[in-house]
Parts: sequence; structure tokens; C-alpha cells
Amino acid sequence: MNNCEGYDMNDLLLRTLRGEATSRPPVWMMRQAGRYLPEYMVLREKYGFFERCQTPELACEITLQPVDIIGVDAAILFSDILVVPQAMGLEVQLIESKGPVLPEPIKTRSDLQRVRVPDVHETLQYVFDAIQLIKKELNGRAPLIGFAGAPWTLLCYMVQGKGSKTFDEAKAFCYIQPDLAHELLQMITDTTIAYLKAQVKAGADTIQLFDSWAGLLSPEDFSNISLPYIKQIVAALKDEVPVIIFAKGAWYALEDMAATGAHGLGIDWCIKPELARKAAGNNITLQGNFDPAKLLSPIPVLKKEVSKMLNAFGNGRYIANLGHGILPNVPVDHARAFVDTVKEWGIAIAK
Ligand code: CP3
Repeated sequence: MNNCEGYDMNDLLLRTLRGEATSRPPVWMMRQAGRYLPEYMVLREKYGFFERCQTPELACEITLQPVDIIGVDAAILFSDILVVPQAMGLEVQLIESKGPVLPEPIKTRSDLQRVRVPDVHETLQYVFDAIQLIKKELNGRAPLIGFAGAPWTLLCYMVQGKGSKTFDEAKAFCYIQPDLAHELLQMITDTTIAYLKAQVKAGADTIQLFDSWAGLLSPEDFSNISLPYIKQIVAALKDEVPVIIFAKGAWYALEDMAATGAHGLGIDWCIKPELARKAAGNNITLQGNFDPAKLLSPIPVLKKEVSKMLNAFGNGRYIANLGHGILPNVPVDHARAFVDTVKEWGIAIAK
């Protein structure tokens, strides 16, 4: 397919999500716009994190970097899941070497009064402006993935107030004050639906929901605290664009997540491809699941491991990706080798 200026359009990702046949799997990497790229570091020296997110020209430039530099088949909007809590009225800081900090987290009912379901055009218009600009600059070279955090993962930060290995305070909040927790989860869900619909209207071709902390929940807690809200979001979006759910660690819920009607499921490296396929069924696209730390292997080892992954998933209803975000210490030529191996595998299977 060509666009109006005669460039090849790359719609591998969208076709794979819709279950159409393609010559090879599409490839992109979670957190592909980030600190492993020297070009990103130049902009990071000059501008603060939220300044980069809130300035459409900067967000656009950073979004396009991995498309231009390592040749991925999809662009993902440069932003962060924490812009939603910010739009809902909470202060969010990103502190170097500490990660996100929310100085006034939600602990009580009176804290909840400080949060609102905002008009997304009043609070997040810069995201939609960035999307419009990115789509223009991409000009069909790759589809654009929009995204948001899943409600449980956002609650983790809004209640705990910072990153954590266990998010025990966020869990305790759900166990001690379940009514309050569900009110907050519903407010996040309502905001997220409006936010994602506006991303689609601005031009996002597909949407990924990041439930990065799903794996901290037991299967029963996941069904009570996370899944009902993911379901609402998928139901609101799935007839407009393909939807991918990435609930890291929630391998036990693949069947339930497939039943939401989502088009794609992201998986991490702790599950075998065959098992994931069995749990998810054949009518959904799987995405993953290379261990991000394996990108640090010598390139010949890395390429062999990527080929193993591709052989295990096979071509069709599969998107090559990592099982979580790329690490900042990955050399750029290793990231490129990951992408190239997928493209070379595609050429080999076509023969
Ligand atoms: O994938 C992409 O390239 C798009 C951009 C993107 C960012 N964050 C940029 C970012 C996406 C999709 C996210 C999602 C995100 N943000 C998640 C879900 C995905 C995941 O990794 O689990 C989560 C949990 C966050 C919250 C967040 N933002 C944390 C914990 C941190 C600090 C840790 C870190 O990696 O530095 C951030 C900051 C952040 N978001 C950076 C980037 C590029 C690093 C900022 C910098 O120092 O330059």
C-alpha cells in the first residue's frame, strides 16, 4: 500500500492485530523511546521529563527516534502513564534516580476529594496535539500506538505515592477500604476511557493498556481489582481501534483477558509461548516476550535467542517485542540486532 506521496505504508502491526496474514511478524519494543538512545539523552539534558511530554514538538521528535534509528515497525507515543493521575489533580514529580514521586497520595476519603474526572481536552490536550503532529511526521511509515496505564497500576502510584517492589500500601488500601478503592478505580477508568477515545480521535491507530503491576495480585484479586476495569476500557475502545492488554505477570488471567474482546495480549518472559497460546486461544494476537536483560548478550547469542523465540511463536497472530521495557544500558546496536533478526527471519520464511 502507498500513501499519497508514494512511500510504502507499513501496516504490519495493524494487520497482525486484526488477524490478517502478513509476510512476517511486526516488531517494536516497549519503552523504545528512552535512555538507551544517545539522541534521547541530548534532549533529556536540555528539558525536564514532563516538559518533554507536554511539548508536542519534543514528544514528536522523541517518538520518531526509534523508528528512524532502529527501524521498528510501530511508533509509540512518547508520554507516561502518570499524566493521567496528574490530570486528575495529583502532583507527580519524576525524580532522577528515584523514579516517580506523588507527594500527596490518596489514603483517606478526604484525600479522594482532591481527585476528579477531568475534561481531558482541558488537561491533556498537549497529548492530542502531539499525536496529530506525530501522525503527520510519520506519514504512514509506521502506525502509532497510543497508551494508558491500567486502573490498578495507576492506583498503585496514586496510593503508594512512589515506586515499590510490592506496592503493599496500595494493596492494603484495597483490602481495608474496598469501597474507596473501587470508587477511585472507577474514576481512573472513566478518565482513561475519555483519554483513549480522544487519542484515537487525534490519530492513534491502536491502543496498549499497561498493567505493569498486575503480577503482584493473586488471581482472585486480579479478577476483583483489575480485570473489571480493563474490561470496561476494552469494551469502550475495541470497535474503534485494535486494543492490546499488557498485564505483566498475570499469565493466570490470559484466558479471561482474551475473553474481553481485546485484539492483542502482551506477555512477559516467565511463560512459555506454547502455554500462552493455549491459554489465550487462537483468536488473539500474542506480543512479547524477550527478556529485556537478554539484549545485553553478545550479538550472536542475542540473535540466536530471538530466532528461538520467533520459531516458538511462529508467523501469524504474533508481534515480536520484549517482555517488559528496554533497559537504559542496552547498546543501540543490540537493540537494532533485535529488530534486524525479526526482519531477517521474515525473509528466510518467505523463501
Ligand atoms: O514505550 C515508550 O517508548 C513510550 C513511552 C513510555 C514511557 N513510560 C516513557 C518514560 C511509556 C509507554 C511509559 C509507561 C510507563 N510509565 C509504565 C508502564 C510500562 C512499564 O514500564 O511497566 C510505568 C509503570 C511508568 C511509570 C514510570 N515512568 C516509571 C516507573 C518511571 C521511572 C523509571 C524509569 O524507567 O526511569 C518513568 C519515567 C519514564 N517514562 C522514562 C521514560 C522514557 C524515563 C525518564 C527519563 O529519565 O528520561
